[in-house]
Amino acid sequence: EFEVQIASTGKCYVIPAGRTVVEALGEQGIEIPVSCEQGICGTCITRVLGGTPDHRDTYFSDAERDRNDQFTPCCSRAKMDRLVLDI
Ligand code: FES
Repeated sequence: EFEVQIASTGKCYVIPAGRTVVEALGEQGIEIPVSCEQGICGTCITRVLGGTPDHRDTYFSDAERDRNDQFTPCCSRAKMDRLVLDI
């Protein structure tokens, strides 16, 4: 599991293993628009302000992934304890 911090409120939310960021935040009333939920379409792309995403999409190029400044929360996770999202 890891934590996601929402930049606009400063609040942190635990993302358990086996739940996506979209699912876990949705349960807390934070809705991120999704479509494919498989890392293909790019609908859910969210800016990352801190931490390193564990990219599991097939949407970004390798160069885009390496910048670590955005990710697809429908399927991607975190390589560190915490991600800070620009929401
Ligand atoms: Fe399609 Fe996340 S909803 S990439």
